[in-house]
Amino acid sequence: MRRACRESSRPLSLVPTMGALHDGHLSLVDRARSDSSTVAVSIFVNPTQFGEGEDFTEYPRDLDADLELLQRHGTDLVFVPDVAEVYPPGFDTWVDVGPIADRLEGAARPGHFRGVATVVAKLFGIVQPDRAYFGQKDGQQTVVVRKLARDLDMGIEVVVLPTVRESDGLAMSSRNVRLNPEQRNAAAAVYRALAAGMNLWSSGEADASKVRDAVRQELEAEPLLEVVDYVSVASPDSLEELDRAGRGAMLSTAVHLGPIRLIDNVIME
Ligand code: PAJ
Repeated sequence: MRRACRESSRPLSLVPTMGALHDGHLSLVDRARSDSSTVAVSIFVNPTQFGEGEDFTEYPRDLDADLELLQRHGTDLVFVPDVAEVYPPGFDTWVDVGPIADRLEGAARPGHFRGVATVVAKLFGIVQPDRAYFGQKDGQQTVVVRKLARDLDMGIEVVVLPTVRESDGLAMSSRNVRLNPEQRNAAAAVYRALAAGMNLWSSGEADASKVRDAVRQELEAEPLLEVVDYVSVASPDSLEELDRAGRGAMLSTAVHLGPIRLIDNVIME
């Protein structure tokens, strides 16, 4: 595939996914397509990015529906490896991107970004794309992947696209199908809370702790949100918490709702 693209000098784009595809994933595929490249999509529920007791087994899977959607969206190549193909016996090399992997999601899910960085490096190595597309929905992941590609001189352009949302603001996520109607309703509070923080900041409040408080208050007003893991106003590069919320900062949160954990973020601009 790589060789065929090189000969025709068409750029090859990769959209890495874990399947159970929705319009968020498809926005990446469509954009890759309209960048007029050959489009490859990988579907692999990567066990090494799930911690003990997390939802690897319950993670939604629907390969037939995924393949149909990808065909409709003009995908040239779908790569669906099994676990033994990605992690053969004796596999023992891991990618550690440093302290950014230990903050936010990394603090709540130790080892998560080691698994993400490792599998993304492997997918990049196998598919050898010119460009790879990721969603802002997983804000910290985009920082990790950009750093990985830069630090290891992978020569791959990382393209990040905006979060696709439901009409009530909820960020689309494969896991949302696991919410019952009541929980699904409550889930809208996550974006509402981030929007409240953004509004406060837009109205001139630069004290990051006040912005965090505004978000937390809105989250706590929704009784079905059980635990708020973090509310963060962080530097978009180092992901360190900021005292002053400046342009470009990432406002993010993670909460527990029924059977799942929801994450979302907005860039302050
Ligand atoms: P997955 O959750 O399947 O997401 C695949 C890609 O789709 C990621 O880049 C994610 O940020 C993007 N995405 C998900 N929901 C989105 C939304 N609502 N709007 C825009 N983009 C969205 O992220 C992973 O898989 C994995 O960690 C992976 C990178 C494949 C490594 O295993």
